[in-house]
Amino acid sequence: MPEHSAIYLAVPMSLLLAASAHAQRPDVNYDESKVPEYTLPDPLLLEDGQRVTDAATWWDKRRPEILELFQTQVYGRSPQRPKGMSFEVTSVDERALDGLATRKEVSVHLTEDKADLSLDILIYLPNDAERPVPVFLGLNFSGNHSIHADPAITLSKRWMRDRKGAGVVSNRATEQSRGASASRWAVEMILRRGCGLATIYYGDMDPDFDDGFRNGIHPLFYREGQSHPEPDEWGAIGAWAWGLSRAVDYFETDEGIDEERVIVMGHSRLGKTALWAGAQDRRFAIVISNNSGCGGAALSRRRFGETVKRINTSFPHWFCGNFKQFNDREDELPVDQHMLIALIAPRPVYIASAEEDLWADPRGEFLSARHAEPVYRLLGADGLPTEDMPAVNQPVHGTIGYHIRSGKHGVTDYDWGRYLDFADKHLDNLKDHQQE
Ligand code: GCU
Repeated sequence: MPEHSAIYLAVPMSLLLAASAHAQRPDVNYDESKVPEYTLPDPLLLEDGQRVTDAATWWDKRRPEILELFQTQVYGRSPQRPKGMSFEVTSVDERALDGLATRKEVSVHLTEDKADLSLDILIYLPNDAERPVPVFLGLNFSGNHSIHADPAITLSKRWMRDRKGAGVVSNRATEQSRGASASRWAVEMILRRGCGLATIYYGDMDPDFDDGFRNGIHPLFYREGQSHPEPDEWGAIGAWAWGLSRAVDYFETDEGIDEERVIVMGHSRLGKTALWAGAQDRRFAIVISNNSGCGGAALSRRRFGETVKRINTSFPHWFCGNFKQFNDREDELPVDQHMLIALIAPRPVYIASAEEDLWADPRGEFLSARHAEPVYRLLGADGLPTEDMPAVNQPVHGTIGYHIRSGKHGVTDYDWGRYLDFADKHLDNLKDHQQE
């Protein structure tokens, strides 16, 4: 055996794997000293150069400008709620989870023809709480049945990505996939703290692969002769976010749920989605982004970890066509992600990072929260109670909340515990924060 092989074998396998993954991505920057200098667009400067100094100008002029930019340049425009939409409660069990909760399943039929696409909402409401209750709403990656081993949850029949060991075979869920994502959903903890939980499989709106927008809900909204969204029309994130708003449409009809206290939460690509849903639809009272990274909470201009070009190349279906123009041209973006957070103001927003999740740029996620603060202050809310990035596992909770948890990309009970603390702190004040 040649001498250098012996040296090679002495290196731990984990380091070799990390090194080879890194070697395949020589263009990814994980070095803070290599973050380029950048200037963020000012959320309080109107396109005509005037400064926004009062809340009325924010609501009447600047907020619509920013929303329009995200709609046309980043996520794409989404349609209104469809006229023929209806709700069907398909199951109710008032003694679910050993009596802890009432479980409901609701189908949102998007057209009058119920054979067409529907979105299936799974809802747990705490039995030991005064109704109507606040509800956490989040999309899931692997079907409603994956969030808990509860055998009565309807098994999703939709396309989903094969997951070795998680019971998804030939792109369909099997009985073995029940509860496969349960570690990411603190169902009992949420219920015991007096909140409900509602979830939809994100593939109900659009299966997460690039098929040219032939499947999913996009075709329901094509004009005659149209076969693909226009460059300023919604991609997959837009469709997923749209589904979250349809769930709120249902909540407005359910007496057990307080539709003024809906907390939208999402992880990773679904964290990007939660932010976009919360930015567009002001019925979301609190918005929570868990490890959302590029195109979510992280500032694009930092080019640390995942970049605009990388995300548009790996996931061409997520954003709108126009967003591709900013590949390697982040400084030309008319917005950055702190302005997405600003669209949520003055409603409470929580950004969470994970220490080892460098791909999502924890510092860039923190800075977005930080740079949204002037808008919160203009609207009479406090912002983030710190100027510097807090230490690991030291959450800060103002109207903007932030934590960086130890560990990897994921959602843990630690994260959920902090979201519940944050919701507790803000829920009573929510009615005061509703603007206009
Ligand atoms: C990929 C992608 C991220 C995304 C993540 C996820 O890593 O690059 O942008 O957030 O998947 O959704 O898990």
